[in-house]
Amino acid sequence: MAKTYQTLGEFIIDNQEDFQYSTGELSRLLSSIRLATKIVNQQVNKNGLVDDILGDVGEENVQGETQKKLDVFANETFIKALTQREVVCGIASEENEFFIPVEAKANSHLSKYVVLIDPLDGSSNADVNVTVGTIFSIYRRVTPDGTPVTIEDFLQPGNKQVAAGYVVYGLSTMLVYTTGKGVNGFTLDPSIGIFYLSHPDMKFPKDGGIYSINEGNYVHFPQGVKDYLKYCQQSEGDRPYTSRYIGSLVSDFHRNMLKGGIYIYPSGTNHPYGKLRLLYECNPMGFLCEQAGGKATDGYQRIMDIEPSELHQRVPFFCGSENMVNKAEEFMTKYPEDRIDYKELKKISLEKKE
Ligand code: AHG
Ligand code: MN
Ligand code: MN
Repeated sequence: MAKTYQTLGEFIIDNQEDFQYSTGELSRLLSSIRLATKIVNQQVNKNGLVDDILGDVGEENVQGETQKKLDVFANETFIKALTQREVVCGIASEENEFFIPVEAKANSHLSKYVVLIDPLDGSSNADVNVTVGTIFSIYRRVTPDGTPVTIEDFLQPGNKQVAAGYVVYGLSTMLVYTTGKGVNGFTLDPSIGIFYLSHPDMKFPKDGGIYSINEGNYVHFPQGVKDYLKYCQQSEGDRPYTSRYIGSLVSDFHRNMLKGGIYIYPSGTNHPYGKLRLLYECNPMGFLCEQAGGKATDGYQRIMDIEPSELHQRVPFFCGSENMVNKAEEFMTKYPEDRIDYKELKKISLEKKE
């Protein structure tokens, strides 16, 4: 797609009126994300040239995953950009155990938005020069303005999102986002540091020919997923489908949106609730997916309607071209015993806290 000469900055301002009584707060927040993205992009591009950006930190994050130096750098960059410019009242990050409240400086008014972020998605790809990403999700706080944020501001279902987006640091760097009025993609011109609208009104094809799943985990998969994979591999009509799996959700999702496909990270005996995080990965990608005409579920129910019980909660994730997700669900619903009861999970989590 050829670039238009509309920049991301202009696009944000031009579409501000979509929000009734807009105060410009969301525009300022999106502009801060754009700034942090450019800083992270510059580091990602130097990967391999600079010693202190490649490799592991030697520590694990709250979820027991090895932290990469780029994970830490991207996390710090986004947190700094968002807090110092006072465009949010709180941040939750995949890399931090607890949410971060932002305090207003003297005489300044704090924004009503909270951001949840996966600063570097697919970070195991970082050391081998394969595409990584960033995912963000924005909500209006539910507690009163002027008070410190609480966990309730972050544990909102995805259907309450105001905006969501991702950045894909690939052959070129793209920022793709939605405010609930379709999905638009912007490509960075690195020579002048400006994002241009290159992919207006992005849409998932209704059907697709690609399936993306870590098939190495096959033995751990629920029977519904095993059956669906057999279906994908049968020689009939437009099948067998092509298998493509990068191991960074952002990149797999981006390709599938452009070409038509399904991404699956199911539950399994090794990951009882799947691996992907509801708040930092599945909800924002689910919002983008639906806004682009696709479908995002846990194999049984809509991702964005799940009532979250914990900040770092994981859920199974099926997302992509509508007809493909519908087909996968047909196989899953034959095994109702594998359906997760999120209300029950929330009850258990509340009881644990008491
Ligand atoms: P992150 O780097 O933020 O921890 O996310 C990695 C996620 C996701 O992006 C990717 O699709 C998936 O984990 C890959 O997991 P497997 O290596 O288990 O396939
Ligand atoms: Mn991730
Ligand atoms: Mn990450």
